[in-house]
Amino acid sequence: MKLPFDGFPIMLAPMAGFTDMTYRALCREQGCDFTFSEMVSAKGLSFGGKSAELLETSPVERPCGIQLFGREPSIMADMAKRICDEYHGDVALIDINMGCPAPKITGNGEGSALMKEPLHAAKVIESVSKASSLPVSVKFRKGWDKTSENYLDFAKMAEQSGASMVTLHGRTREQMYSGTADWDAIATVKAALSIPVIGNGDVTDAKSALALKAHTNCDGIMIGRGALGNPHIFPEIKAAIAGMPFTPPTEQERMAIAIRHIEGIVAHKGPRSVVEMRKHIAYYVRGMRGASAFRAAATRASTAEEMVGMIRRFVEGGEF
Ligand SMILES: Cc1cc2nc3c(=O)[nH]c(=O)nc-3n(C[C@H](O)[C@H](O)[C@H](O)COP(=O)(O)O)c2cc1C
Repeated sequence: MKLPFDGFPIMLAPMAGFTDMTYRALCREQGCDFTFSEMVSAKGLSFGGKSAELLETSPVERPCGIQLFGREPSIMADMAKRICDEYHGDVALIDINMGCPAPKITGNGEGSALMKEPLHAAKVIESVSKASSLPVSVKFRKGWDKTSENYLDFAKMAEQSGASMVTLHGRTREQMYSGTADWDAIATVKAALSIPVIGNGDVTDAKSALALKAHTNCDGIMIGRGALGNPHIFPEIKAAIAGMPFTPPTEQERMAIAIRHIEGIVAHKGPRSVVEMRKHIAYYVRGMRGASAFRAAATRASTAEEMVGMIRRFVEGGEF
């Protein structure tokens, strides 16, 4: 099935607790080619609870991808179908999470635990692909642990089960986020599949993006932690891939985006959501002089106005 992007897409990875609608829109505005929702529980959606809030998208990012997690083929298929029917035009891709390492997810046999059950995972992918009128992709890891690195067979299985794209994060579940991502694994999968293979893991700037592309011959790149507090990573990488120069943003420009982030999050989720910004702010000021004192001070801000005021004082060189 035709994917909703052309060329060599640079995508924002789904990150629970971080990549909400506001942040995705900021990344898209900067030049990110495609975004994914935070992972959404298919079961939660089927119960009609708050999970549906995660399906909200902003006009700037449409159409985008929705990432579902779950292990019951019929529930996953029903929720994929519901998204295709009800969010037609806003959503252009259904992604299946088979990589999440969090114990509360794997403990239910979901996320990366599905890599231990490839036959069952195939049923999930097949059911979702059959039910979905949109292309389906699968995001997974190298395997459960170093004794069971089944990424190549798993990738082939995903393709045979109806996936139109796969994303490989080159770490095992056991590694969580430690060590380095294995780009050789991504190259191996790319060489074996006919569908697009998106490379993921440890891209933090233009240099690492070009290196991942050259190393793996992948069809696109997905960026997670490197994009936190840094939506400018997208124009930086896009410029490098096009062979164009890139002028890094000034600290003022970086913090101007942080202020828009605060305003967006509060407009979307209400004044109390300013507490959610604390974790983002910590990333925005990464590498700046006086960052740690500012971070500590920013955790005490309880209103958007207060936090914006602190940012303005920080960029003007104020002490904290
Ligand atoms: C805070 C956080 C939340 C994440 N949430 C998700 C998620 O909801 N779904 C998913 O597939 N991966 C999730 N991931 C994994 C990322 O999408 C990505 O695969 C991983 O961070 C490796 O890429 P990176 O090195 O560019 O960060 C999360 C990662 C982090 C750090």
